[in-house]
Amino acid sequence: MKLKVISGIGLLMAILLYSCQSDDQIILARYYSIGSIIYQNKCQNCHGKDGQGLSALMPALTDSVYLIANKAILPCIVKYGLKGKLLIINKKPFEGDMPAMDMSPIEIAEVLTYITNSFGNKMGIVTAQMIDDDLTKCK
Ligand code: HEC
Repeated sequence: MKLKVISGIGLLMAILLYSCQSDDQIILARYYSIGSIIYQNKCQNCHGKDGQGLSALMPALTDSVYLIANKAILPCIVKYGLKGKLLIINKKPFEGDMPAMDMSPIEIAEVLTYITNSFGNKMGIVTAQMIDDDLTKCK
């Protein structure tokens, strides 16, 4: 009897754990697909369909090393733009002007989830809560 209860609890925990994980996957998939539409509408013109950028004019979004190192400032870049900052993208210096985007934290979370899990990047989900936190630290 005792054993049955214990294995029952074990099973319940396994189910809970499993459904938790799949919830995360569902949220990631939802953010990713909405993010891809936002990307097409607001970013693709400059950064390219495959995040390849445009020669010396627009930086690529394919540099995982840059994106991982600067993860916490990406929301600031999207919301407030970036002017004439010297960046090293794919090992080459880059300097240009990106306009500020009028976007809510949830939209920024969606588009960044898309970018950081596309074009060869694989950084997992970016939540609206993370965006809220990061935006308080913009300079
Ligand atoms: C008008 C063109 C333009 C648009 C539209 C634009 N960007 Fe940018 N973006 C730039 C330029 C130019 C830079 C480099 C700015 C600098 O060097 O200071 C940049 C830099 C970046 C960077 C950091 C550098 C890199 O390559 O990783 C990210 C991330 C980024 N943009 C994401 C976005 C996202 C997301 C959107 C859409 C919501 C977007 N951009 C829309 C032109 C644009």
